[in-house]
Amino acid sequence: MKKRVLTGYRPTGQLHLGHLHGNLNSMLELQDKYECFFFIADWHALTTNYADTDKLLQYVDEMVLDWLAIGLDPNKCAIYRQSDMMEIAELALYFSMLTPIAWLERNPTYKEQLNELKAKEIATHGFIGYPVLQAADILSVHADFVPVGEDQLPHLELSREIARRFNHFYGKYLKEPKALLSHTKRLPGIDGRKMSKSYGNAIYLNDEPETIAKKVMKMITDPEKIRKNDPGHPEICSVFALHKLYSPEQAEDIAARCRSGELGCVADKGDLAEKICSSLKPYQKRRLELARDPDTVKKVLAGGAAKAHPLISETLHQVRRLIKIERD
Ligand code: TRP
Repeated sequence: MKKRVLTGYRPTGQLHLGHLHGNLNSMLELQDKYECFFFIADWHALTTNYADTDKLLQYVDEMVLDWLAIGLDPNKCAIYRQSDMMEIAELALYFSMLTPIAWLERNPTYKEQLNELKAKEIATHGFIGYPVLQAADILSVHADFVPVGEDQLPHLELSREIARRFNHFYGKYLKEPKALLSHTKRLPGIDGRKMSKSYGNAIYLNDEPETIAKKVMKMITDPEKIRKNDPGHPEICSVFALHKLYSPEQAEDIAARCRSGELGCVADKGDLAEKICSSLKPYQKRRLELARDPDTVKKVLAGGAAKAHPLISETLHQVRRLIKIERD
């Protein structure tokens, strides 16, 4: 029996290289090794974007198309939409009854985001309950593993605590999931900070080659390498950080030629831009083909729901019995 893996993604717009190297590539490997549940967390998108939902449905569709174009295979994994599983909302409701508020208030992600997103009114019930809903996602399919970056570890720990507390009151039923720590590399964006949509420094998977070239040309390199033949320090250069991903075999040679002053930044960036474009080409081609059939997304989500729903529905049946909301 294969172990079960679950992960979700909020549909908040276009995917960029940070997503690709952070999670998506590892999802591709996971689908061959585990029984995978990959879902679109549209309810979670509402926690911060509840006031601005015009694009929500479009973003869900785009995320499905992006996933397929990257190579996620609906025959290997279950790709579904959170809001198609009403039982998840019900499970979150039961969890909300037994989750102490103090557990949620001490969650570091919550405190951080409250600070960062000051402009939005996110001190809401839904937002502080984000990890409760996430626990329902995870525990509803009895996931063994959840692939997470370090920033998501506190959320996963809360899921484990909620499972334990449920089991303590109602009998041992829910499985405590384990983290599958991704070897996530923090990908630098064009300004050297972490690549992120909100920083406006991202290279998107659907960017045109010319756009990619322009963005790469703007990238920050070694500030001490002013003229072409100045010796550079690749270890602090964002362009080099990307070279390590896009031309791992040539990285050492590139570093040596940068250090010696033989390789100038403009030529180096041109080379990188070309490599990024050619690696995205098959994805972009497939993405266009997939979008041509307006039923693609519908079919995939229906197929994913058909796989996930019986399992989730059975979980809720058991949960209701254990809580004694329903007769045996
Ligand atoms: N919290 C995740 C994010 O911010 C999305 C998410 C929702 C998730 N439910 C999940 C991830 C369950 C893993 C497991 O992107």
